[in-house]
Amino acid sequence: MKRQRILVAYGSKHGATAGIAEQIGRTLEEEGFDAAVHPARDVREVEGFDAVILGGSLYAGHWNRDTMRCAHRNAEALSHRPVWLFSSGPVDSSAERHEIPPVPAVAEEMERLHAKGHRTFGGSITAGTPGLVARTLVKHGKGGDFRNAEAIQSWAHQVGEELRADGKA
Ligand SMILES: Cc1cc2nc3c(=O)[nH]c(=O)nc-3n(C[C@H](O)[C@H](O)[C@H](O)COP(=O)(O)O)c2cc1C
Repeated sequence: MKRQRILVAYGSKHGATAGIAEQIGRTLEEEGFDAAVHPARDVREVEGFDAVILGGSLYAGHWNRDTMRCAHRNAEALSHRPVWLFSSGPVDSSAERHEIPPVPAVAEEMERLHAKGHRTFGGSITAGTPGLVARTLVKHGKGGDFRNAEAIQSWAHQVGEELRADGKA
């Protein structure tokens, strides 16, 4: 049977969300899907994909602008295929302790696109993250890489299971 094509599109300012997207793509590949991972700003059309996972980092309560624009630009096509959204994220262990709901604008996108699910993953700010805010946080011991490989893989696995259950894989 032809492998189902899944697009994992991400908006990432400093690479943390890109890493999450790559991991989602790898997990789906390992599970037999044909996964393509691309920056959201490069995604002009999604017609060639059977399902789409769209993720972005959070800054001051807002989803990454590239991700939001990608969602708007492709809204019509996205609303006709299975879509999942994700956000990254809290630079502490809160995303591991409980489900963090999407910020309001992402919740709106979920409705508009009829998204099948959303997950907030822990994010990352390290000494290598540029910017004054990041530098100050790290200096005060508030940084760290809170991306949890197990949680990311497990969510990607869940998405794959749902696609299979829908009889589309
Ligand atoms: C200035 C600044 C503002 C942030 N605001 C939020 C926020 O509102 N909510 C949140 O969960 N994380 C917030 N974060 C954490 C980032 O979302 C996290 O570092 C994320 O993993 C960055 O991903 P990126 O490198 O892909 O852009 C903020 C980080 C910085 C530096």
